[in-house]
Amino acid sequence: MKVIYDETAATVTQEKDGTSVTHPLESAEGFEIMSRAWLRASWDVKYIYAFSWFGRPIIQLPEDMIRIQEVLWRDKVDVIIETGVAHGGSLVFYASIFKAMGKGRVIGIELDLRAHNRAAIDAHPLRDLITLVDGSSIAPETVEHVRSLLKPGERVMVMLDSNHTKPHVLAELRAYGTMVTPGCYIVAADGIMEIVAGGPRTKPDWTTSNPKQAALTFVAENPDFIIEEPVWDFNEGAVRERVTYWPSAFVKRVR
Ligand SMILES: C[S@@+](CC[C@H](N)C(=O)[O-])C[C@H]1O[C@@H](n2cnc3c(N)ncnc32)[C@H](O)[C@@H]1O
Repeated sequence: MKVIYDETAATVTQEKDGTSVTHPLESAEGFEIMSRAWLRASWDVKYIYAFSWFGRPIIQLPEDMIRIQEVLWRDKVDVIIETGVAHGGSLVFYASIFKAMGKGRVIGIELDLRAHNRAAIDAHPLRDLITLVDGSSIAPETVEHVRSLLKPGERVMVMLDSNHTKPHVLAELRAYGTMVTPGCYIVAADGIMEIVAGGPRTKPDWTTSNPKQAALTFVAENPDFIIEEPVWDFNEGAVRERVTYWPSAFVKRVR
């Protein structure tokens, strides 16, 4: 695929499969083509490895974090479970939202929490809202331990951000899906892998082994879940699609 950006004409032309289509920049289509190109460039330059939240590095596209904030607020979530802690930035992000909401807590699961990251999370002012669980997210003892931390009546959502292969994410969806409160989401992060395959730091099998494919398989085998984009409360622009590293990521438990 080839994308040609004409700043003077304010158009973008996409050449694909022998056809060429030109859109104004001032259109949903033009914005989507430019966004996709930007997302690919962002992957190549490691754009998301340049942010921290309340002092902890957070390895996320900022747009995705703003969207999660919208979901936490609207769904009135009491507990977010996240697989994959790394430096702890996303745990601190959720904790800061919960602090502002006046309720909510975070459970973070990590296979290999480095000593310096553990020490920094332990010393963080929002530490009392965070429970750390050591182990593989799909180990039966980890899953049962996390389940035991939930209290009846709590509104629970889950973020899957550990190992992003299709088999692993599918195992996580099967293990944690039943912990999600009906009406809430389990989010399979980083389906961007399918789009950036072929770029730096990618593997050839990313076109098929990725979180998006895991989510599609999971909802096909389980009628209690659907892939459903949250309804975003505010949009006075022409944008139709989220700019995201998480395409087809929002798996909603419907019953
Ligand atoms: C993408 S990073 C997490 C980033 C973090 N959520 C953030 O937003 O800053 C993925 C993390 O998952 C961890 N991980 C990999 N496999 C895992 C597993 N089976 N169980 C739990 N954590 C795992 C890695 O050690 C790594 O720290």
